[in-house]
Amino acid sequence: MNIAVVFGGKSSEHDVSLVSATSIIKNINKEKFNVIMIGITKQGEWFRYSGDIKDIQNDKWIGHDCEKCQFDMTYGSKDLLLFGEEIKRIHVDCVFPVLHGKNGEDGTIQGFLTLCGIPFVGCDMLSSAMSMDKQITNVMADYVGIKQAKWTSCLDIDFDDEFIDMTIAKLGFPIFVKPANAGSSVGVSKAKNREGLINAANLAFTHDRKVVFEEAIVGLEVECAVLGNEAPIASRVGSVIACGEFYDYDSKYINESKIEIPANIDKKVEARIQIAAIEIYKIMGCSGLSRIDFFLTEKNEIYFNELNTIPGFTSISMYPSLFGISGISYSDLITKLIEFALARRI
Ligand SMILES: Nc1ncnc2c1ncn2[C@@H]1O[C@H](COP(=O)(O)OP(=O)(O)O)[C@@H](O)[C@H]1O
Ligand SMILES: [Mg+2]
Repeated sequence: MNIAVVFGGKSSEHDVSLVSATSIIKNINKEKFNVIMIGITKQGEWFRYSGDIKDIQNDKWIGHDCEKCQFDMTYGSKDLLLFGEEIKRIHVDCVFPVLHGKNGEDGTIQGFLTLCGIPFVGCDMLSSAMSMDKQITNVMADYVGIKQAKWTSCLDIDFDDEFIDMTIAKLGFPIFVKPANAGSSVGVSKAKNREGLINAANLAFTHDRKVVFEEAIVGLEVECAVLGNEAPIASRVGSVIACGEFYDYDSKYINESKIEIPANIDKKVEARIQIAAIEIYKIMGCSGLSRIDFFLTEKNEIYFNELNTIPGFTSISMYPSLFGISGISYSDLITKLIEFALARRI
């Protein structure tokens, strides 16, 4: 079976994708699957890569062993077209988009693959797009009554004094300010006063026209991995202790934040988190996988934060590690995800 692993992309999380993809390509069950590597440059050019895996991680794959490629859009042809000296075709059974953030996790590639009739790993177009957008996610969580931070949101053109006053009155300081569609904490800041809020919003608006403002929740950051289609299962719960003031980009990828798997929390609280994770997974229409993140306060209150439909996926990342302790090895997890992709009707 030919599995196309797609990595890179025009997203602020390009580099994170390279690390996750390297790990997946190395660990995928080679007896079952033949990997076709597809790299997307930061400019958005697609190449079939056939060079050494070790050149992916540091983004040195571009410029050698590369052939320009694109999927045949004829529904159900499931062919990858390679533009070498002559046009060649390779059949693809399933795509594993290992792309985080914009153009990867937001429904765009999912919509495109649906149009082509090619099965792919992870959430479909609508659930990806909704989960990527923090305003829509918050609306959905409110809709089913899942507890979360108080929030407001606005478009750049509506960000005026009246909106700022309303937001401060509703949320109080500190306020978390985030682009509605980003990821890896890019453009996220914690504002402590009105001036800080305006600066934070202006930064967030450079990433997205729409920005979300949230009451700051003081608590442990806990994460639960969910796997499956119609009958999803929840993993144990893990926790993250950020080394910075919050879990920003640097604490995620540069400095060592502490990850605890499983989290040292009460079993009953853990069960409540698992139930909430599945409830969110279902209401958002997820399939395949998603990592659901929460805050756990000192009083054991659970606040939903966000869901990540293509969570970090290196062999030491939270998502695979949470299933690892439940007895599903990294390589088996990849197999299961491909099986869920093939089982879903597209
Ligand atoms: N409402 C909030 N209260 C407290 N901390 C928050 C809140 N929102 C975000 N944070 C902090 O900012 C980090 C990034 O925000 P998050 O919503 O998870 O965005 P991203 O999609 O970029 O991961 C979180 O991991 C957490 O440390
Ligand atoms: Mg997050």
